[in-house]
Amino acid sequence: MAKLRIALLPGDGIGRDVMDAARIVLEKIDLDAEYLEGEVGWELWKREGNPLPQRTIDLLKSTDCCLFGAITSKPKEEAEKELIPELQGKGYTYSSPIVALRQLFDLYINMRPCKAYPGNPLNYRDDIDLVVFRENTEGLYAGVEFYPLPDGVRRALETHPKMKRFADVPPDEIALTCRIITRRGAERIVRAAFEYAKKTGRKSVTIVEKPNVLRETSGLMVRTAREVAKDYPGIELSEANIDSMAMWLIKNPQDYSVLVTSNLFGDVISDLAGQLVGGLGFASSANIGDHYALFEPVHGSAPKYAGQYKVNPMAMLLTVSLMLEWLGKQEEAAKLERAIASVIKEGKVRTYDMGGSTSTLDVAREVARRL
Ligand code: IPM
Ligand code: MN
Repeated sequence: MAKLRIALLPGDGIGRDVMDAARIVLEKIDLDAEYLEGEVGWELWKREGNPLPQRTIDLLKSTDCCLFGAITSKPKEEAEKELIPELQGKGYTYSSPIVALRQLFDLYINMRPCKAYPGNPLNYRDDIDLVVFRENTEGLYAGVEFYPLPDGVRRALETHPKMKRFADVPPDEIALTCRIITRRGAERIVRAAFEYAKKTGRKSVTIVEKPNVLRETSGLMVRTAREVAKDYPGIELSEANIDSMAMWLIKNPQDYSVLVTSNLFGDVISDLAGQLVGGLGFASSANIGDHYALFEPVHGSAPKYAGQYKVNPMAMLLTVSLMLEWLGKQEEAAKLERAIASVIKEGKVRTYDMGGSTSTLDVAREVARRL
């Protein structure tokens, strides 16, 4: 088999700290792989007005998959202010590179496991083992937004009677973000959730939406889920509203197995679920398409901890395990997960969030030692 090519994009802040931790573990695993480091993130935005340059996209295109650290994202006005003076006022607009990469490479599955490892003092309960499947390319993240509201868009919206209430609002006092759900988008994320349940012997999939209010977009998700479920006779489909799901996840998280939902709902509910099993220090994620995948811990770049090698690398190491699995390295993936679980269980080597004082890199070294 040809040598694997894996892109490493450390990004900003603690993205670099945890990428160094990942490298320690990858070195020990000793895959037949070449690692190619690329640039992405806030520093590039400030210097070049583009946080995701074409050279980075080209690099990813030449690889099998990508391991991603974290990046800083800021709202419009703050982003503009941080550009170097030569670039200010030239019409550069910031948009999130990770969202762009998901769309560019059609990484429609965002898979986020939330599993309580025994011995983790941060577990909310010890019997939680659920996986969120978040649609990753459309919904409220499709990027179709308007401000000020163009005339033509307003006229089109006015074909809907409910738009009358906004007829008097001036264009610069109204903003619009479209929630786009396609039948294909709904079908492939629900199918991915069911396929995963089938492969891992899980017995239920819960579609989490809000079809009682978002009758068309959530409605399409739920109707599609019912159709897809027919192909998986042994697996039960349940339906829950996003708001009550937030409540049920606090009340009885152990009752849930596979959750599937649209983009923004999945973003929110996966943070909630992640907190039940130790918080962002344990939340791993995979962005998966039919031809490419990008793996990233859920946490952000936490600039205040950057370079201190203080943060918990477990989210990143669990993310590496997801990557190994996707690469077909099941044995290595399972070994890595067992090593992580045994470090957590023993409880001697812990970063500050778990009440310890071990550094990011020493945690990674301990995991590597057990491989
Ligand atoms: C995540 C993050 C991203 C998202 C941000 C950084 C754009 O919160 O991966 O969950 O909203 O998807
Ligand atoms: Mn998020």
